[in-house]
Amino acid sequence: MRLEGKTALITGGGGGIGRETALLFAREGARLVIADYRVDSARSVVDEVAAIGSEAEWIQVDVSDQESVKRMAGEALSRFDGIDILINNAGITQDRMLTKLTTQEWQQVIDVNLSGVFYCTQVLVPQMVERGNGKIVNTASIVGVHGNIGQSNYAASKAGVIGMTKTWAKELGPKGIQVNAVAPGFIETAMVATIPEKVITKLRESVPLRRLGSPLDVAYAYLFLASSESDYVNGTVLAVDGGLVI
Ligand code: CAA
Ligand code: NAI
Repeated sequence: MRLEGKTALITGGGGGIGRETALLFAREGARLVIADYRVDSARSVVDEVAAIGSEAEWIQVDVSDQESVKRMAGEALSRFDGIDILINNAGITQDRMLTKLTTQEWQQVIDVNLSGVFYCTQVLVPQMVERGNGKIVNTASIVGVHGNIGQSNYAASKAGVIGMTKTWAKELGPKGIQVNAVAPGFIETAMVATIPEKVITKLRESVPLRRLGSPLDVAYAYLFLASSESDYVNGTVLAVDGGLVI
């Protein structure tokens, strides 16, 4: 029970990696806030968490909308005493080659993947500072480290997440808060289902472990960075990619 007595808020908690994380955290004793744009999946994750015997609440949020994020924080903090763990996991792709990428596709991905992480963290940090502890885990991607064909917008957003992680580790470390990132490789969720078959076949063959990752592979990395086992880990980017270098 590594998260006993802790409350974790997971953005994108109704998605592939978010759901698996919520269930793992519940098994480790955490109370959960499932914050997602999509109501149906967030609700069903809350039901699954309840079946494990843990407390959970779902809140609809659009992380790219600062007012919506403020409402989410207000609701979460009125329901639970405080948020000990923030998992900034919500994210989207809009893949297109550079010359075909529209300004709207550029902006939408930046708004959700980069600004969304900033809005959620900024609004939830003060109550962590007040208590003198907290864990923030940001979801980057190996694409933010190595780049990837057709992902100018996504790569920029995830590289930005890595920059913010390292900055916040410096700003918030002295206040007892650790900030780290996970950089997953290709993980079997709805997001990867958008990749053309010929590209995914090539990718799978390039992974030294010869398989794509599972949502649980990432959830275990989140768990480590959310638990006291990582109390001396700050500002790191943990790759969960089977050794893939794209
Ligand atoms: N490797 C090598 N060449 C590639 C390529 C790749 N991965 N993808 C595209 N190309 C080449 C094509 O072969 C083609 O070459 P020619 O012009 O010489 O024929 C050229 O680039 C244009 O390709 P398309 O005709 O397919 O162009 P398109 O505009 O229809 O589609 C694309 C381009 C949208 C990028 C599409 O190829 C695609 O979706 N690729 C997958 C992108 C991807 O990997 N996304 C990851 C999603 S999962 C995720 O993001 C999670 C994470 O963090 C890892
Ligand atoms: P997913 O598509 O299954 O889940 C994403 C969740 O985020 C969905 O439930 C969606 O409703 C929610 N979401 C999207 N936009 C939102 C918004 N504006 N506000 C609130 N919620 C929103 O995708 P997956 O794979 O679970 O992705 C989770 C995170 O992991 C993302 O940040 C993604 O970029 C990252 N990632 C995923 C990889 C993969 O291969 N699947 C690899 C590397 C990183």
